[in-house]
Amino acid sequence: MADLRNNFVGIKSPNPFWLASAPPTDKAYNVERAFKAGWGGVVWKTLGEEGPPVVNVNGPRYGAIWGADRRLLGLNNIELITDRDLYTNLREMKQVKMNWPDRALIASIMVPCEENAWKSILPLVEETGADGIELNFGCPHGMSERGMGAAVGQVPEYIEMVVRWCKQYTRMPVITKLTPNIADIRKPARAAKAGGTDAVSLINTINSITSVNLDTFSPEPSINGKGSHGGYCGPAVKPIALNMVAEIARDPETYGLPISGIGGITTWRDAAEFMVLGSGNVQVCTAAMTYGFKIVQEMITGLSDWMDAKGHRDLDDICGRAVSNVSDWQYLNLNYIAKAKIDQDSCIKCGRCHIACEDTSHQAITQFVDGVRHFEVMEDECVGCNLCVNVCPVQDCITMVALEPGTLDERTGKVVDPNYANWTTHPNNPMARQAAE
Ligand SMILES: Cc1cc2nc3c(=O)[nH]c(=O)nc-3n(C[C@H](O)[C@H](O)[C@H](O)COP(=O)(O)O)c2cc1C
Ligand code: SF4
Ligand code: SF4
Repeated sequence: MADLRNNFVGIKSPNPFWLASAPPTDKAYNVERAFKAGWGGVVWKTLGEEGPPVVNVNGPRYGAIWGADRRLLGLNNIELITDRDLYTNLREMKQVKMNWPDRALIASIMVPCEENAWKSILPLVEETGADGIELNFGCPHGMSERGMGAAVGQVPEYIEMVVRWCKQYTRMPVITKLTPNIADIRKPARAAKAGGTDAVSLINTINSITSVNLDTFSPEPSINGKGSHGGYCGPAVKPIALNMVAEIARDPETYGLPISGIGGITTWRDAAEFMVLGSGNVQVCTAAMTYGFKIVQEMITGLSDWMDAKGHRDLDDICGRAVSNVSDWQYLNLNYIAKAKIDQDSCIKCGRCHIACEDTSHQAITQFVDGVRHFEVMEDECVGCNLCVNVCPVQDCITMVALEPGTLDERTGKVVDPNYANWTTHPNNPMARQAAE
């Protein structure tokens, strides 16, 4: 049985599945039940500074995107940080940590970008026995307009400054949570590292408007006829998050910096993908909000079964295993040639592959052969783009088959070269031509 125990920057938990800072972690009642269900750790809903708590809207705070089966694909929210009193949260955190010493309890914090504000809250948090802190530099709405959250996360110099304060004023490990609302995620990660962060976590939510009501012309969620942009999360954001995690994992300047992966994780497979791309553990929000706390049990058994089947003994065996396979486009092998192949036995003759290839790709799939409806790839036209694979409604009906080196590519009339060759040396590349001259 695979060993799922996790040690993330010295914070131990029985498995790598943490609940992200959000409604599932906003009070002891929730966190207690989450731990009972099996979650390895939680990042408590973000704490603000002492004094009157923030005020949330009193109407709808979520917008959504659904798949054709009404499954939730993307969730957008305009909720702020905790709207409960700081001391109530701290008291509950202390009690929960005492009740569950083997689970990770992280305090997420967002206070104004002033040294004193950070200096004052850190001892209060430390006193709860929390295992670490997460700096919320990601919230993209409401708080950012007050100079916090993403307003800090978008300025690398501020990130470095606040991380430095936190490292100075607490002994707890510091996890810096990054906003994806930035052009190059490596810059805030580098700044966090320069400030001395122990780890980064990402992604927080993405600026978004999910829909507009066409009767009232109000963006959703609508508060008395008006809407504001919110933070997008859930399965739809996973590809964006995975790329950002990989960017940090393979950046020579942040290489080796521990990463807590977040964004759309719903299944053990999603979690495994984040981990092989460099995450030391993962955090989950929308999946728990959609399916409840017990979803973690599927994640634990799924990850464990896969690791057993593949002979991976512990998390160190899988973390970062895919990072070296993430490449810049220019280094991809241009001598690798694949063609689509349709399995006639599973084809239901819907014609979607034909129309996609015919209208937007390379006119490489038949529609009729000898007057009979028949879908087949013409290898002399197929460029191997795999659009047909992605539009076919039958899984594995169309597969991509690589041509063996030495065989003929009927499209180009050339024999497949066994050697690796990329764009940097290709004769059509003006830079390569210049270098050769
Ligand atoms: C309603 C809601 C409230 C959230 N509140 C916080 C918060 O207080 N602090 C924080 O760091 N992230 C907050 N998040 C962001 C999540 O922690 C997480 O980064 C994001 O939802 C992406 O993960 P997911 O795709 O699994 O939901 C919130 C997300 C949602 C949906
Ligand atoms: S791989 Fe691309 S070019 Fe080839 S048949 Fe499919 S859609 Fe057409
Ligand atoms: S899309 Fe798939 S099922 Fe439909 S005709 Fe093409 S191969 Fe057959």
